[in-house]
Amino acid sequence: MPISTRTLSPADAPELDRIQALAYGDRLQEPADALLSKIALAPEFCFAIPADDNNERLAGYLLAHPWLADQSPGLARVLTELPENADALHLHDLAVDPACSGRGVASSLIAALVHAATTHGFELITLVAVQDAAPFWQKQGFRPLRPAEGYDEDAVFMERRLESA
Ligand SMILES: CC(C)(COP(=O)(O)OP(=O)(O)OC[C@H]1O[C@@H](n2cnc3c(N)ncnc32)[C@H](O)[C@@H]1OP(=O)(O)O)[C@@H](O)C(=O)NCCC(=O)NCCS
Repeated sequence: MPISTRTLSPADAPELDRIQALAYGDRLQEPADALLSKIALAPEFCFAIPADDNNERLAGYLLAHPWLADQSPGLARVLTELPENADALHLHDLAVDPACSGRGVASSLIAALVHAATTHGFELITLVAVQDAAPFWQKQGFRPLRPAEGYDEDAVFMERRLESA
């Protein structure tokens, strides 16, 4: 399986839906328009890794967008604009097809985001860890800050500071 990363596009919507359904419990599923709004507003921070060479099936995807450092936008929200004074990148969603897990797909997507973040001058990435994923994120350099509301019960708001480019 290639670990090359490409930008997500609206044509990937069926694959986002397919992987979401495999990766998340019912309460964390989001409608396609909420996911597509991130791609529309911030395509340079939304990545996919194809599962095979024909590029149709995805192994995993990552959605991120500029946001305010101390806030999380919540689930199922269709974004219509980004804050003018955005001072962080918010990593909204990272999911890997379970058939492709444990092969570095998530790490490669995060590396692509970190590269894009530093290229665009961001020094902070934030996220909300759900489904007890905080230990995974700690391995990726994030630190837990506080509980987060509007996700699942044990959701944790986390951040990772980046070296400037
Ligand atoms: C969590 C998830 C993104 C990991 O994807 P993946 O492609 O299997 O991860 P990678 O292969 O890149 O693994 C990277 C490292 O994280 C570790 N890891 C993976 N899942 C982990 C978990 N749940 N807890 C702790 N560590 C974990 C791996 O062992 C690996 O460690 P290593 O570098 O020491 O070998 C994937 O399992 C997933 O999509 N889960 C469901 C959706 C989800 O919960 N997303 C996060 C929401 S905040």
